[in-house]
Amino acid sequence: MAVIRFDHVTKTYGDTVVLENINLTIDDNEFLAVVGPSGAGKTTFLRMLLSQEAPTSGQILIDDVPIADEPMPDRGIVFQRYSVFPHRTVLRNVMMGPEWLAAPVTGRLFGAKRTELRDRAQAMLDRVGLGGHAQLYPAQLSGGQQQRLAIAQALMTHPKVLLLDEPFGALDPGTRKEMHKLVLELWSEHQMTIVMVTHDLSEAFHLGTRVIAVDKHRHDPHAPHRYGSVITSDFEAKPRLARALQRAERAAG
Ligand SMILES: Nc1ncnc2c1ncn2[C@@H]1O[C@H](COP(=O)(O)OP(=O)(O)OP(=O)(O)O)[C@@H](O)[C@H]1O
Ligand SMILES: [Mg+2]
Repeated sequence: MAVIRFDHVTKTYGDTVVLENINLTIDDNEFLAVVGPSGAGKTTFLRMLLSQEAPTSGQILIDDVPIADEPMPDRGIVFQRYSVFPHRTVLRNVMMGPEWLAAPVTGRLFGAKRTELRDRAQAMLDRVGLGGHAQLYPAQLSGGQQQRLAIAQALMTHPKVLLLDEPFGALDPGTRKEMHKLVLELWSEHQMTIVMVTHDLSEAFHLGTRVIAVDKHRHDPHAPHRYGSVITSDFEAKPRLARALQRAERAAG
């Protein structure tokens, strides 16, 4: 389960108000797409969900529990670029998260545990279509392959919440389409709540079960930093029944 609740969340940097009094409940297994103009606070919204930033006031709860104040493996993130470690092979990148969780001091497992993790990492790479690229370095992958890697890496710790910050923004239309298919499949296989920021409205409506827009609701020309963004629109993108049927069909094959 992962029901996320923003309870009167405001974020300011100095005297710049970025997000203002956000109240929002994201259902378990929802695929929420977030759109809005540049600078509206979309990445800030995700960073707070990841605990990379704390709200200035208000709180964020997952399943009624305030989120931990540092990033936890229950939440994974994929950025538009540079989500992975360039000096590690593809396989090592995917092993790293669980390895640090299991061996927090050394970051290394040995023996049977290591073999087991390596097998799981290889299976995850196979799943996202990178099975044959395990020994390459991220720079040797295409943009789409790098995003596949970042997704595989994020999924290895079984997050309840997957956060995507314009993950397909730098990809060509054909590759994007393939990534859309993959992310929808993974969403139904892994029972996660997904929150995805995108600049592309058609992508938002194609993938999201719900689409929200964030933007400033008031503007003071003499003090542009005075008002933050609020949720200006909130659409149910796919009716719940259609979604449930779609998932059942996917699961059936
Ligand atoms: N660490 C920080 N310190 C100060 N100001 C910040 C910080 N992070 C973000 N901001 C400010 O917060 C505002 C929102 O930034 P944010 O990155 O969340 O926007 P965004 O909606 O993701 O934009 P884009 O679509 O361009 O990625 C911007 O005005 C930015 O300058
Ligand atoms: Mg951003």
